[in-house]
Amino acid sequence: MAMLESKATTATAPIVVKASAPDPRTHYRKFELGAFQFERDEYFVTISWPAKGARQQHRMSADAFLRALMRDVAWGFFYGLVNFDGMFGTRNLYGRVEFFGGRYNEAYHKASLSYVEQFDSPVAMETCKSMLRDWCNAGFDPFAAPAETGSTWAGPKNGDNIAAIERFRIATKRMPGLAGDSPLRDDLPVNRAFADVAQDEPEVNVEPGFEGKLHAFNLFKYLSRSDVTWNPSVTSVCRESLYCPTTEEYILPIIHGNDRVEWFIQLSDEIDWEVADKETGRPRARVLMKPGDVAAMPADIRHQGYATKRAMLLVWENARMDLPKLYETGKLKPYPVEF
Ligand code: PHB
Ligand code: FE
Repeated sequence: MAMLESKATTATAPIVVKASAPDPRTHYRKFELGAFQFERDEYFVTISWPAKGARQQHRMSADAFLRALMRDVAWGFFYGLVNFDGMFGTRNLYGRVEFFGGRYNEAYHKASLSYVEQFDSPVAMETCKSMLRDWCNAGFDPFAAPAETGSTWAGPKNGDNIAAIERFRIATKRMPGLAGDSPLRDDLPVNRAFADVAQDEPEVNVEPGFEGKLHAFNLFKYLSRSDVTWNPSVTSVCRESLYCPTTEEYILPIIHGNDRVEWFIQLSDEIDWEVADKETGRPRARVLMKPGDVAAMPADIRHQGYATKRAMLLVWENARMDLPKLYETGKLKPYPVEF
């Protein structure tokens, strides 16, 4: 495939994205990252990698691929594994990133049809962003619930939706609403699923001398105005302890392979979790979480959530960078409590 190379510059070295000219029929470009090739048509994304002297092809529905890719881009390859489905995904090595095909699919891996390749994260990230920019049509928001964004993802290339995929990522330093910190979403509408959520803010009365040091806000109101789904955003920071609440509707677009324990607190409605072994994908548990339920998701699993009605979930992350190694070497057990 003839590839055009486009360059983005960082402080250190120019980053090269390998993209083809637009396909004469679909007008979508093809992309290459190392030995991986990516192409999309009206309905599908086809990913291929070298295996047994030939090329192994894998197909995904384009909307599912783009929803997963959007999370990988927005979350900087996240923690641990981001499985786009049971075959393809990325493993964050923090600074570098491994792309894999079939590696965490037991049958394909055993049949020597799997492939992994490592990249510097900024190089891989630029390729991912270019794919998103080229393959998201006008009207398709990969962060939105399907009922909100429709079937605009399908068909030949039709415009783009740069605003949706380059949304300002809210980086909260301590807590939204504090002076100099992220805003409280007062300018966003209440989502249709949360029309019954009270919108009043708590009254904060501070003793003289403590002005600016005490803060409170209505988290349910804040979440009721989230315009995205399956996007945990840092909402309170206490050293390495990050509260990352999120609103969930339809299917978590990735199957997340944890590299640390994650705590879930179900704040409203219900999410059904499918939990499987991180390495093989063999099923391990089904967890139906109802309001008030708390779960510790172990460090050696992959999980994917399903929510029919938009639900509020608090994801509690520990951002300590030495955790993956402590779990990998068995210094920490993959679960946080023993009963
Ligand atoms: C997770 O992998 O734990 C996760 C990711 C995204 C969400 C919720 C949970 O929206
Ligand atoms: Fe997870």
